[in-house]
Amino acid sequence: MTALLAVKGLEIAYGKILAVKGIDLEVGEGEVVSLIGANGAGKSTTLRAISGLLRARAGTISFEGRAIERLSPHRIARQGLVQVPEGRQIFIDMSVLENLRMGAYGEPSRARVKQRLDQAFDLFPRLAERRQQVAGLLSGGEQQMLAMGRALMAEPRMLLLDEPSMGLAPLLVDEIFELILRLKGEKRTILLVEQNANLALEVSDRAYVLETGRIRLSGPAAKVAADPAVLAAYLGGH
Ligand SMILES: Nc1ncnc2c1ncn2[C@@H]1O[C@H](COP(=O)(O)OP(=O)(O)O)[C@@H](O)[C@H]1O
Ligand SMILES: [Mg+2]
Repeated sequence: MTALLAVKGLEIAYGKILAVKGIDLEVGEGEVVSLIGANGAGKSTTLRAISGLLRARAGTISFEGRAIERLSPHRIARQGLVQVPEGRQIFIDMSVLENLRMGAYGEPSRARVKQRLDQAFDLFPRLAERRQQVAGLLSGGEQQMLAMGRALMAEPRMLLLDEPSMGLAPLLVDEIFELILRLKGEKRTILLVEQNANLALEVSDRAYVLETGRIRLSGPAAKVAADPAVLAAYLGGH
């Protein structure tokens, strides 16, 4: 299998501080892969480099066999690699509908935009009910759904999700993970970053464990979940 996304020898520094210290990872078409690890391990840094928001100090990133590590975030997104950033970053002064339309920016066919909107509202009925509402007035969970809905409006080939469950009440966390399962059922390709390792491993095919900028362990999600070191460090010893 050729990987849809392949990262090799990736190093990312903030000034003199090396945050990601030479990691390799791959995501195949239709796979849900999670990147787990403690706060500060380098998960967001890795995602930001993949989506072009940060320049790698060394290493290569290829998407569909093409090198993307020198491309702008805009061009990377246009190739179908779309990130839902940590903290959501929706446009709070705009309506739900306007936010979703922004996701399809550049799509000339109104019919296609309409079709994707219908899809998004089907996936997120709460957003449908609130389509005219200003996004800043949505609850945290609804804002997360909007951020994911907006990413899907771009018809991505692959989604990068950074901590979709962060800051949400348990019930909404479950809802977000059910949604990820639904996207998985649609054979979408997802790289999922989560501190909630239990849930991330439950919905993933494979996983990588990142520890202070290095991959400590990787493999099928069930195998990673059963690893004693992972159990002790990330899964609360259950
Ligand atoms: N903008 C930044 N400037 C300097 N250091 C940063 C910046 N962002 C993150 N870091 C540092 O890089 C490391 C990895 O951070 P991050 O990728 O955000 O971790 P995670 O997403 O796994 O919690 C941490 O030590 C963090 O303090
Ligand atoms: Mg992070």
